[in-house]
Amino acid sequence: MKFDVNKYRDQFPIINNNLIYFDNASTTQKPTSVIKSITDFYTDINANVHRGTYQIAEDATFKYENSRKIIAKFINAKNNEIIFTKSTTESINLVAYSLGLNFFKKNDEILITEMEHHSNIVPWQMISKKFNLVLKYIPLDNEGQLDVSNLSELITEKTKLISMTHMSNVLGSVNPIEKIISIANKKNILTLIDAAQSISHIPIDVKTLNCDYFVFSGHKIMGPTGVGILYGKENLLNSMEPFLTGGHMIKDVTMKESTYNLSPFKFEAGTPNIAQAIGLGEAINFYNQYDFNEMHDYISKLYDYLIETLKSIEGIKLFSYNKNSGPVISFTINNIHAYDVAKLLDTSKICIRAGHHCAQPILNKFNLESINRVSLYYYNTKQEVDLLKKSLLKIIKVLT
Ligand SMILES: Cc1ncc(COP(=O)(O)O)c(C=O)c1O
Repeated sequence: MKFDVNKYRDQFPIINNNLIYFDNASTTQKPTSVIKSITDFYTDINANVHRGTYQIAEDATFKYENSRKIIAKFINAKNNEIIFTKSTTESINLVAYSLGLNFFKKNDEILITEMEHHSNIVPWQMISKKFNLVLKYIPLDNEGQLDVSNLSELITEKTKLISMTHMSNVLGSVNPIEKIISIANKKNILTLIDAAQSISHIPIDVKTLNCDYFVFSGHKIMGPTGVGILYGKENLLNSMEPFLTGGHMIKDVTMKESTYNLSPFKFEAGTPNIAQAIGLGEAINFYNQYDFNEMHDYISKLYDYLIETLKSIEGIKLFSYNKNSGPVISFTINNIHAYDVAKLLDTSKICIRAGHHCAQPILNKFNLESINRVSLYYYNTKQEVDLLKKSLLKIIKVLT
């Protein structure tokens, strides 16, 4: 379908309520079709999946599994390589804990980057401590890009996994993941890509990418909160220890021991977030309706307009952007605290983010504790950017 921003916006009830929403890197708004898929589930077919033999249980199972198929197709994976988790955070924790249980050996090295969200730092710190592993970081340069010039020295014989973000949630920087995955594959190093930010903005084919794990959250691509995805190569998933154990993930249980089901069920213990998984399938269907190149062209031009608009405001300092950046920009305003800026914008129903954005190592790099961030989605417009400028000028006038 042709992308027309006005028609697109019409699908989002919250946006049509006069809200200017610029916190899309945090979570995206939901179109009516996604909201409806959740109410329809609870209204018509609420039952547990993979258990009942009655009609609504079969309908619920069909919809849940159909959603897995939609997501698999979206990133070119096999159905059994798609595991429903709660979020990106849970997907990374699952891999970290599971590899800790039966893959890593003492003194093995894990490589991450200084650009990570805390959810791709803390799990590795935790298992490094617990299993005596060494955690290393690919540094950031002063422009907010990854500095891969010393990569060959950072990777050693002991490096067993590289886990990195595809797109920074603070700077919008897009990392050269293809290059790093290719180096890792030649050295038999596992790779995990955190696509929480890129999933809405960069088309993904996990087979071409050839990474071992790929994770994202449904709510960053118009799906509900409470559902995330872990993609893993089939052979790896089947050789991994499960993270959560209990109902449904088993093959046989005796009083003495249990054997496990194959992927994906081995990693989906207990009753899953059924309505959320179905809602995510609907969100991907919604996303796929529109021509990606048109959407991409629209948001790239809007991003350029946002940058030019912010640059025209005296006293604003922008952090790291370039032609390849995702539609995210962080900034500070002379002597005004980031929280004051966000709170005052809120009085005009403009939502932007203030804080460390769960990425303290990046802020430490720039000697900051708090920063403002505007992140765009396909429903944002130039008029909204103009209103942002108008409100920012007022705030600067009052507070300086
Ligand atoms: C790059 C990145 N990774 C991971 C996450 C964590 O996502 P979630 O909170 O949905 O688990 C985020 C959330 O903002 C993110 O931007």
